[in-house]
Amino acid sequence: MQGLREKIEQKTELEKLAKKIDEEYIIQRFRGERTRVSISSGSSQILDEYIDKRQKEVVSKILNTNEQIGTVIDAGCGAGRWTDFFCKRAKEVVGVDKSLDMLRIAKTGKRRNAHFLRSSMTILPFNNSFDLSFCSFSLLLIIRESDFSKAVSELIRVTKSSGKFIIIDITAKTPLITAWTLRRTPNQHIKAFLLHEAVLKDVFGYRSTHTWISVYM
Ligand SMILES: C[S@@+](CC[C@H](N)C(=O)[O-])C[C@H]1O[C@@H](n2cnc3c(N)ncnc32)[C@H](O)[C@@H]1O
Repeated sequence: MQGLREKIEQKTELEKLAKKIDEEYIIQRFRGERTRVSISSGSSQILDEYIDKRQKEVVSKILNTNEQIGTVIDAGCGAGRWTDFFCKRAKEVVGVDKSLDMLRIAKTGKRRNAHFLRSSMTILPFNNSFDLSFCSFSLLLIIRESDFSKAVSELIRVTKSSGKFIIIDITAKTPLITAWTLRRTPNQHIKAFLLHEAVLKDVFGYRSTHTWISVYM
């Protein structure tokens, strides 16, 4: 009993700390001086731009860019670097983030086909209406195992059966992930990520329309 109580207390402390870091991270990183390419507080602008360029090259190759994508959900859209990318290729893009500060920055993109919504990825107010469900570097911010599962399930649920599914996340134990080690240890995160990769493969089978990108850095 004692051990369990200690674990719960530790977890509560961890969550408080993670919330504080979230707030500080958003305020310091996105006060306007940074570009919308910014990805995290733990990386330099050069690294951000490198990652941004490399990821977009890969995603462009995967998607047939000659064909317009119908509707896209950008879950955990942050400052909107992917929302902008998809707005040029899709009819409608919905950027979802739980942070109002992030959404405020994302909205400066001024794309007519972009819509933004404050919501947690764990409860998405949509039916299966998206041709592409996309989530980049956001699952790694979810600490609770049950929330992690809920977010993955919700992303699956809101994707049309003919739709595509792309998740970019970190699956290697590297210095980049140390920025998030207070939320989950790298080992925990990688384990959860790989577990859900298996779940996704189960749900979507190996249909070529569904793509999972694991980013190894
Ligand atoms: C590291 S940023 C990544 C932003 C963007 N996807 C990118 O790749 O540049 C993570 C974003 O996920 C958001 N986020 C974290 N947990 C979330 C949740 N449960 N629901 C919605 N957004 C969440 C954060 O507010 C933050 O904007």
